[in-house]
Amino acid sequence: MTEPLRTRAVGTDLERVDGWAKVTGVAPYADEHPVPNPAYLQAVQSTVARGRVTEVDARAATALDGVLTVLTPFNAPPLRLGHDAELEVLQSDAVWFRGQIVAAVVAETPEIARQAADLVRVSFDVRPHDVTLSADRDDLYKPEVVNPRHPTDTLTGDPDSAFDSADRAVDATYTTAMYHNNPMEPHTTVAVWHGDDDTAALTLYDSTQGVHPLRDAVAAVFDLAPERIRVVSPYVGGGFGSKGRPHAHVVLAALAARRTEGRAVTFAVSRRQMFSFVGYRTPTIQRMRLSAGTDGRLTGISNDVVELTARFKEFAEQTGLPTRTMYAAPHRRTTHRLAALDVPVPSWMRAPGECPGMFAPEVAMDELAEACGLDPVELRLRNEPERDPDTGLPFSTRNFVACLTEGARRFGWESRPRVSRSTRDGDWWVGTGVAGSTYPVLRQPGSAAASVRYRDGRYEVGIGAADLGTGSSTVLTQIAADALDVAVDDVDLRIGDTALPRAPVAGGSSGTANWGSAVVAAARQFRGKYGPDPADGDEYTGSDDGGKKRFAMAAYGAQFAEARVNVHTGEIRVPRLLGVFAVGRVINPRTARSQLVGGMTMGLSMALHEASVLDKRFGFVVNHDFAEYHIATCADVPSVEAHWIDEDDPHLNPMGSKGIGEIGIVGTAAAIANAVHHATGVRIRDLPITNDKVF
Ligand code: MOS
Repeated sequence: MTEPLRTRAVGTDLERVDGWAKVTGVAPYADEHPVPNPAYLQAVQSTVARGRVTEVDARAATALDGVLTVLTPFNAPPLRLGHDAELEVLQSDAVWFRGQIVAAVVAETPEIARQAADLVRVSFDVRPHDVTLSADRDDLYKPEVVNPRHPTDTLTGDPDSAFDSADRAVDATYTTAMYHNNPMEPHTTVAVWHGDDDTAALTLYDSTQGVHPLRDAVAAVFDLAPERIRVVSPYVGGGFGSKGRPHAHVVLAALAARRTEGRAVTFAVSRRQMFSFVGYRTPTIQRMRLSAGTDGRLTGISNDVVELTARFKEFAEQTGLPTRTMYAAPHRRTTHRLAALDVPVPSWMRAPGECPGMFAPEVAMDELAEACGLDPVELRLRNEPERDPDTGLPFSTRNFVACLTEGARRFGWESRPRVSRSTRDGDWWVGTGVAGSTYPVLRQPGSAAASVRYRDGRYEVGIGAADLGTGSSTVLTQIAADALDVAVDDVDLRIGDTALPRAPVAGGSSGTANWGSAVVAAARQFRGKYGPDPADGDEYTGSDDGGKKRFAMAAYGAQFAEARVNVHTGEIRVPRLLGVFAVGRVINPRTARSQLVGGMTMGLSMALHEASVLDKRFGFVVNHDFAEYHIATCADVPSVEAHWIDEDDPHLNPMGSKGIGEIGIVGTAAAIANAVHHATGVRIRDLPITNDKVF
């Protein structure tokens, strides 16, 4: 194991190093990079969910003053096919979903582009579409793996027999809704080509969670060497996974820029278009079966998941994962089945898999506690595994019990009435609920490199990392300072550029671990070569080594919620959320708290407000804007507290950190659903929990 980092800056609540640049408006986001004389792109979207484009009549659009070009499936430059169907924009006449890009206009101004796009007439050969997800479809299929490459199904023992002979059991089906990622900064790409065919090079200013992964994907479809493409993305206004994988709009901007002879093309995706272009969280249907003895000890646990994917490209969310690993039980099963529908392809959204996959089991555990006459915290304590039930490996650290007990103490769980619907405060039923939370440590040793350069008494540290607003540039500055044994003020960190050393995606809550490990390694190698007094211009680029995985490694948490439900209207309020997490060493308490509180808030929003409404007649999400896709606002979120257990885990990485970006959203919705049940006695198994479901 690499030697742990001696910490001085790490662990302090350093203010964001980019905070001033952001709040004073000088931090350029993707749309704001100063490029000379850009042209503007607007996409034309399919109005049917399935069929073929038979004709694109662009005469009225091209006749408009200021229109530079109109791209269609019949005239677009060819791409290299077969890498990723989602990126094969305008390469065929096939329509796979409503909202798909079927043409594009490039014009002198955004206004002209938009007007011209409205004038483009697209004719379709329409086929019947199907967007209905249900567990009894006869065409459900078993994907080869689930995201990113987990086994689709797992089976240990005989959970069905365990269920049939159980003293206490739960058998219920839970559903989570379709959700769309809505970061504050919509997706934008500015694309500009340099050179001619033989020397062609492309620069992309893009709002992305990973400059290098994006570069490699674009290089593949344009059949270019990756070194010919530069992706620049120093600041990102959120992503939640939607900027973690490349989407069609990036390729479209680059494709259009081929036509403008060296002029940059800007494509600012609108909020509404985000509901078609950049992925979403699949709805899930989860049948949970729990069996237990009268003492609440689980004998069997199973989760059979049904979810959707697109017909043109598969994404299989790993929803069954938490059931595989959270509790001890001798008989266990998880399965995933997919319906391939005429919809855009689902993708990553904060804690794909764990987030929806924790809702069903943690509500089921609440139901089991009731069936056993046990306190739900106590039930969880009784089912704590000694080793990871999925792999049989020992845990590097597993402090779920500490999270539960510390959370119960801080929340005031002890005074909770055992019986539901027993507390009324004026016009409100009041209840509390708990749920567990886990998120794996997904670090990939050796996946990143970093550079260190000394000049004028300062250390410039470079890595192609991304800061989505999470604070990663701040914590990397702290890590670099400690690894170089200098003050944070002596470090200038540069990120978000493929001209810097390679870095994996800001995803899977693994960014800081992957990038930080590389920064530590490069800093140590720099010091090893140049000693404590480097000369001007000394520079070193280095990477950390790989390592074998001998432990099951994950972060844990316990989420507590208070719910108040209006006795007349069913209105649901959540005045209090409290989470206690075990996430390894906390590198910066200020940014860490913000990540955890942000995740919990998003979980509250998922529990009560958010749901994409797919109109079956048109195959389209009809509430595709902020007027109708409801996201929790400040008034919905009175008190959210995040705490953590001090955790010292030597097996993780030099910083001792586990990752904090996603665990905050995991389990929150279950805690709220359980609190609503405790308040009202009504068990709601379908998200979101809205007034109509309470009565
Ligand atoms: Mo996160 S959904 O892995 O960006």
